[in-house]
Amino acid sequence: MLNDIERTLYHEQTILRRLDELAAQITTDYTGRDLTVIAVLNGSLFFMADLLRRIQLPLRLDSLSVSSYHGGTQSTGLVTFDQTSLPDVEGRHVLILDDILDTGLTLNAIRDRLLAEASPASVRICVLLRKEKPRARELEADYVGFDIGDEFVVGYGLDFDERYRNLPFIGVLKPEVFSTSALPD
Ligand code: IMP
Ligand code: MG
Repeated sequence: MLNDIERTLYHEQTILRRLDELAAQITTDYTGRDLTVIAVLNGSLFFMADLLRRIQLPLRLDSLSVSSYHGGTQSTGLVTFDQTSLPDVEGRHVLILDDILDTGLTLNAIRDRLLAEASPASVRICVLLRKEKPRARELEADYVGFDIGDEFVVGYGLDFDERYRNLPFIGVLKPEVFSTSALPD
């Protein structure tokens, strides 16, 4: 697996140091409020586990699973919810966690649906990574771990075709991995 990585963008210790800062900010911002975190699976799993253990609040945790990619490295633009029901967040302050803000389509779809159907008190967005590119729909993330260039990254929850999520760091794949990915595993 490590042979498939061209270079490391963020080492595990760098990520965890940044999560200390993000968690401190979130703890300050939500003190005295009833916070519900909604993690977008599977990409935010590692981010969620490490971030939430640093937040010093009695929060609730829910999750949602959506797909906007169906393999490959380009968003299909189509966001499908894997569950029909939404978490019960009526009157609660919601923080949506996702791995990466790319086109913004996924987080927009989730936020719009929560606002339309779940009556939360507020909705904010927290992403580990944000790509520097024009968004399909302008979306402001409230908490951002790192800003990165417009390149495809894997590890620490992020996948290429469902693989590499378990790398402990964030890295860039070798181009030949993309080109041979049509072959059977
Ligand atoms: P969106 O384009 O902002 O809707 O992003 C949708 C999803 O695409 C993210 O939640 C990720 O799962 C995935 N994604 C976008 N960019 C990358 C990347 O560089 N590596 C791995 N997954 C990505
Ligand atoms: Mg993905």
